[in-house]
Amino acid sequence: MKKILVTRKLLEENNKRITSIFDVKLNTSDTLYNPEEILKLSEGCDGILSFTTTPFNRDMIMKLPESIKIISNYAVGYGNIDVVAAKERGIVVTNTPEVLTDATADISILLLLGASRRAYEGRKDAEKEKWLWSTDYLIGKQMTGKKLGILGMGRIGRAVAKRARAFDMEIHYHNRNQLDSSLEEGAIYHKDIKELFKNSEFLSINCPGSKDTENLINEETIQYFPDGAVIANAARGEVIDDEAMIKAMQSGKIFALGLDVYRGEPKINKKYLELNNLFLLPHLGSATTRTRIAMGDRAIDNLEAFLNKNQNPKDQVN
Ligand code: GLV
Repeated sequence: MKKILVTRKLLEENNKRITSIFDVKLNTSDTLYNPEEILKLSEGCDGILSFTTTPFNRDMIMKLPESIKIISNYAVGYGNIDVVAAKERGIVVTNTPEVLTDATADISILLLLGASRRAYEGRKDAEKEKWLWSTDYLIGKQMTGKKLGILGMGRIGRAVAKRARAFDMEIHYHNRNQLDSSLEEGAIYHKDIKELFKNSEFLSINCPGSKDTENLINEETIQYFPDGAVIANAARGEVIDDEAMIKAMQSGKIFALGLDVYRGEPKINKKYLELNNLFLLPHLGSATTRTRIAMGDRAIDNLEAFLNKNQNPKDQVN
């Protein structure tokens, strides 16, 4: 049996399956291993099942035992792994696309609604039992018929578009490449990000985190948005320059922001926490039982294909 290190806790359904296929070092106590522990535990293993909370930078990758041939990441994003270094070492890296599309798109919509309809302030007032219904109490912005920009029109971006159509929104998007019209379904492509932002009364961020997308929302680009825009980020925290965003939220240029992801999470720029126009969640994009089981299955499929069936894993990213 091939040997696998699993760096965090898996759900029980996934534990059952992986232990029936591989000789596994599970992490049932969900300890956050440090790099030295990962290196030690991976000795004698053929593969690693890793998570977004397990960083594999170049140095780590280079120090991994020779026996490690695959890192199967339990996430669609793989910014935690230096995939170029892995390729140099001949280590295959895989992710878990598709299975978390719906759950993450749902969270994007929740962020847009939570931010635009002032859910955070509402919750605080309701808890204090100190509010009085009135015609102008906690007035928010309504999504119906508005222009929605989608930054990153991959599977998740398209699933957000599908949901937004139910709000009669006009969909605009930016992507590295324009999509085929069958995938666009009427969405308007902007090659230039400035044009996308100019057309974004609401913006949903659904692009991968990378050097190319880091700080795409910054002091300069925020000015392109219509005044009072609403932005939601269910992708990666690094896409937003937080200081610039906080200023724009304080001035009202940005009416409200919904965040599920943060630069350096779980840490959050403290100035955000002083703002009432922030609706925030702790990285819940894929957090439903069926999605998490499906992610585990997909990560196990990739290990099984590569290590046991001698096949190219379906979701190789490097
Ligand atoms: C979660 O952030 C993921 O990339 O799956």
